[in-house]
Amino acid sequence: MQPQDTDFTLKNFIVLEGIDGSGTSTQMRFIEASLEERGLAHMITAEPTGRPEGQLIRKILRGELDADPGTVAYLFASDRHQHLYGKDGIVEALELGKIVVCDRYALSSLAYQGSTCGRELPEYLNARFPAPGLTIFFKIDPELSLQRLSSRSKLEIYEKSHIQKLVDAAYEGIIAKKKDLGWNIETVNAENPIDQVRREVLSIIENYTGLTLV
Ligand code: TYD
Repeated sequence: MQPQDTDFTLKNFIVLEGIDGSGTSTQMRFIEASLEERGLAHMITAEPTGRPEGQLIRKILRGELDADPGTVAYLFASDRHQHLYGKDGIVEALELGKIVVCDRYALSSLAYQGSTCGRELPEYLNARFPAPGLTIFFKIDPELSLQRLSSRSKLEIYEKSHIQKLVDAAYEGIIAKKKDLGWNIETVNAENPIDQVRREVLSIIENYTGLTLV
């Protein structure tokens, strides 16, 4: 399948978004367990991907390779294009009838790259990617999410207080704008206890898919 216009929505493509330390990776594991338990065909995935494009990005995020912020925006967009349209990618899985759940997608580029290389380039590079059928945004105070990250031995280049605050503010504006454009975006309070967030996330996915997950 080829890239479509911006108003094109991929049904059963579910994305989790939020600043670093908001808990999306933890909740991805719960969603995966629930889909597996019920024997539902699915693909659990993430961006940056594990492909060479994503590995290059990871190197930059770890601070092992220097890159201009604009270069990073291009790399995320190329990783995303391959992830969507390449072999074993998102579109292929959806066409096989799978539910696809992805940790981060285009809103991450608009929020993170928009905060580091300016808004214009990421907006341009992401304008033609289709909308997910459902996006769940994990809202958390950046101070709290940074506390959660403080136990990690090594932080990535964006995991700094001033960047997380910029990204948090950027997400807010981007989400409002995308909702106006018809994107289906639900926000959960990611400061709540993990199990409460788990139940809330699963119930949002139930409402969207019509499946029983909890
Ligand atoms: P993350 O998904 O939080 O993984 P981990 O749990 O391994 O830290 O980290 C990926 C980082 O990449 C995160 O800081 C957000 C950033 N990112 C972007 O800047 N732009 C993007 O388009 C995507 C998908 C991620």
